[in-house]
Amino acid sequence: MKPFKVTASVAILLATVLAGCDQPTISSREIRHRVEASRDVTKIFGKTLKGHLQQAMQQGGPLQAIEVCHEIAPQRAEEMSRKTGWDIHRTSLKPRRTPPDNWERQVLEEFEKRKAAGEPFEKLEFHQITEKNGKPVFRYMKAIETKPICLVCHGKNIAPPVAEKIRQLYPNDQATGFEVGDIRGAFSIVQPLDKPLPKTLKPTPGQTDEPPVPSRQ
Ligand code: HEC
Repeated sequence: MKPFKVTASVAILLATVLAGCDQPTISSREIRHRVEASRDVTKIFGKTLKGHLQQAMQQGGPLQAIEVCHEIAPQRAEEMSRKTGWDIHRTSLKPRRTPPDNWERQVLEEFEKRKAAGEPFEKLEFHQITEKNGKPVFRYMKAIETKPICLVCHGKNIAPPVAEKIRQLYPNDQATGFEVGDIRGAFSIVQPLDKPLPKTLKPTPGQTDEPPVPSRQ
């Protein structure tokens, strides 16, 4: 996968398709900045969740940690979505809370193939300019790896009280049976393209090998 070559051609295609409409045209540089901002957001989101999870596991064990995952994870996603104006969430082919939409399902299936073909985990990301509800959007996904600690609630041998608690909160849970190194799911970000990239998310000089995008206000 060569994301920047792909995005450059996608940008040209989009510019052609949207010529004559009121929609914004997206330069390949802006796409790159949107990718970088998405990476930053997934890193922060991932670190926050990990911090909450580890703390809860140490303090109250898995039963308390389930509550944290149940309440804090959606809250943090909601907060970050509000701050950025994007839709930021997690999903999975075997979801606990949030099933994938068609676009996400295809990307997740593609991640499985790429992983099976030997692509390293940290490279399993994808972005595309597409449409959602009739509006142009930039979408980004990044795979989330199953680590040993995840097996307590997503593995094959879940302790009965933990399994029971999960069943109570998520009667349709599919998110078990994972092994270390599996793709547990992915971060998913939908950025509306009718709004400029939030200023705070633009890379500062030195962060990239390209000059920053001048602010458009
Ligand atoms: C203490 C139990 C517990 C542990 C440990 C745990 N999770 Fe979860 N996980 C949950 C719960 C509960 C949810 C549902 C959260 C919600 O309601 O949004 C969840 C949801 C998810 C989701 C969202 C997709 C979906 O299935 O709805 C991902 C991705 C995920 N977990 C990954 C991980 C990873 C990776 C680890 C290890 C680093 C991990 N989890 C460890 C309980 C746990």
